[in-house]
Amino acid sequence: MPTPNSGQGSTAIEATDLSTASGSAASGPAGAARVVARCDMLKHAPFSDSSDQLFRPFLGEAHHATILQVMNWAVQAGMTTRLDGIGNVVARYEATAPGAPAILIGSHIDSVRNAGAYDGPLGVLLGIDLVARFHSKGERFPFALEVIAFGDEEGSRFPSSMMCSRAVTGALDAEALDILDSEGISVGQALETFPRIAGQELTDHRLDQSRRSIDELVCFVEAHIEQGPLLEAIDEAIGVATSIAGQQRYQVTFCGQAGHAGTTSMLLRKDALAASAEAIQLIENVATSFGEDLVATVGQVDARPGAVNVIPGQVAFTLDIRSGDDGLRKIAAARILEGLGAIAERRGIAVDHDLVQDLPPSPCDPELIELMVEAVRKTGSSGRKMVSGAGHDTMVMSKFIPSILLFIRCLNGISHNPAESVTVEDVDQALDALEHFIRYFPYDPEQAPG
Ligand code: GLV
Ligand code: MN
Ligand code: MN
Repeated sequence: MPTPNSGQGSTAIEATDLSTASGSAASGPAGAARVVARCDMLKHAPFSDSSDQLFRPFLGEAHHATILQVMNWAVQAGMTTRLDGIGNVVARYEATAPGAPAILIGSHIDSVRNAGAYDGPLGVLLGIDLVARFHSKGERFPFALEVIAFGDEEGSRFPSSMMCSRAVTGALDAEALDILDSEGISVGQALETFPRIAGQELTDHRLDQSRRSIDELVCFVEAHIEQGPLLEAIDEAIGVATSIAGQQRYQVTFCGQAGHAGTTSMLLRKDALAASAEAIQLIENVATSFGEDLVATVGQVDARPGAVNVIPGQVAFTLDIRSGDDGLRKIAAARILEGLGAIAERRGIAVDHDLVQDLPPSPCDPELIELMVEAVRKTGSSGRKMVSGAGHDTMVMSKFIPSILLFIRCLNGISHNPAESVTVEDVDQALDALEHFIRYFPYDPEQAPG
């Protein structure tokens, strides 16, 4: 049984001077209610780039506003803040001995289009409120606590996801800076034109400014809504992920021939959209044939030129394939790509597919799983272990440092949808579990990195 890390009296810590920071974390509403209220606040302008729905893509205006707001909250909770070279907010609550390695806690603040409020921000704001709890009691630990708000997990702006956690681990190649969004703006250009933040270091976007050394970090902890129905079905507030399903993403393009919708007979067409429709049906059939162990999704389709009276000459669509079983995932992908080739050949048009991401299944750290299960049990849930079908920054971080993912029940398992919902009671239980996890973390400075 690990012993508690002794909380020490707080020494004065330097707070980044942000002129809009106000209030004190300890004087706000109860922690969990505040976390939920903050997530809800981030649904709306200026924290969304869309007036009628939540959409917060990487390096957009809403992302910038959210960075400032998250930094303010982190400062109020007793942390110093900085922005790294790729736009991650990193907030630090110092250890008893300044400069000690940190337990990194966090999630992402970008969103999908028409998103719910909790996918990502909940994990960031839980981390901040957890620190506020310790700070209000003057508690410090032999390790620092750092809260990170990753800027890109979803991949909803550029056709690549988890770029920000990959930058932290050193797994993001410099070529990633050349990836283009739908407007033809590269990641590198978006970083260059991202508005500067006073007193922060987003002045040089070299990837090595974001990269961390394993010597600086103890482990990574992500808290996230489950995005599935299991916890609700077993009537538990929180659970522990043991691993995350592998996923690969492709950009598929069918190139036919644009033509006049009135004069080109059906037999003479090279319709890229009709070919894509057939391809999407094939993808669904192949995935369904694997039963419950595999899923495949076409989530975005772009048909050009996109006019009512023109036969579509070029269609690009995304393809996302996932499974907890790496072998199945690869067999399914091969079967789908072969099928796409057959459709193109039969229709006399071209097809091209680029693999834009390939993430193998990612197990969480066995020791951290048991520690988190114990923390969850202390709060009244059974410590249910589960596999995540959704992708998380934990997938990337777990290849770098020991990592763990705590799940929080969400209403009807709904996510990537504005109907996403959590209860204050469940969030409060997650805060309690995280508090227990940190307070009883078996940290041995003698064996610490560095
Ligand atoms: C992220 O939410 C993903 O699973 O794609
Ligand atoms: Mn998501
Ligand atoms: Mn997420």
